[in-house]
Amino acid sequence: MARSRIAARLASPQPPRQPAHPDISEQMIERLVRHFYGRVRADPVLAPLFDRVVDDWEPHLQTMMAFWSSVMLMSGRFKGQPVPKHKALSRVAPRDFEIWLNLFRLSAHAVCPDDIAELFVERAERIAESLKRGMFGLAAGDFNQT
Ligand code: HEM
Repeated sequence: MARSRIAARLASPQPPRQPAHPDISEQMIERLVRHFYGRVRADPVLAPLFDRVVDDWEPHLQTMMAFWSSVMLMSGRFKGQPVPKHKALSRVAPRDFEIWLNLFRLSAHAVCPDDIAELFVERAERIAESLKRGMFGLAAGDFNQT
């Protein structure tokens, strides 16, 4: 009996993973990504970190749109490897993430309604923590000690 219930559950389709908010669209993600990397390219600390690696910005922007589409819309469009890519960036310091997140927060609130902006920021903060752990082996509370 128990086994047939499990078999039935396995055979039935899984509920689809939901977008983080019904008003988030690919167009909103594109506006956010373009706005944010416009700020990054104007930032005196972050711009040189990107300029060393990113020659052609349009493919990077397309990658980042696919990334945020996968994170927020569950589209599965992103097929990258953020941790090894960031580990290879030898000049990035933990405190650079604070600048990155501040700019991202400004862009999110400039482009999206506040409730949606906060959803983007929450995800970005969590992903930043896991990237930092991968890059520097830091725990969340160590953010300000470096
Ligand atoms: C100080 C902070 C950061 C710096 C300097 C930085 C820099 C970069 C650079 C230079 C690349 C291009 C790497 C390459 O193509 O080889 C990149 C890729 C990427 N970044 Fe960041 N990044 C930072 C933080 C973040 C955060 C917080 C997120 C996510 C919320 C993020 C998500 C990504 C993703 C998804 C890619 C593409 C990875 C891939 O193609 O596999 N980055 N980043």
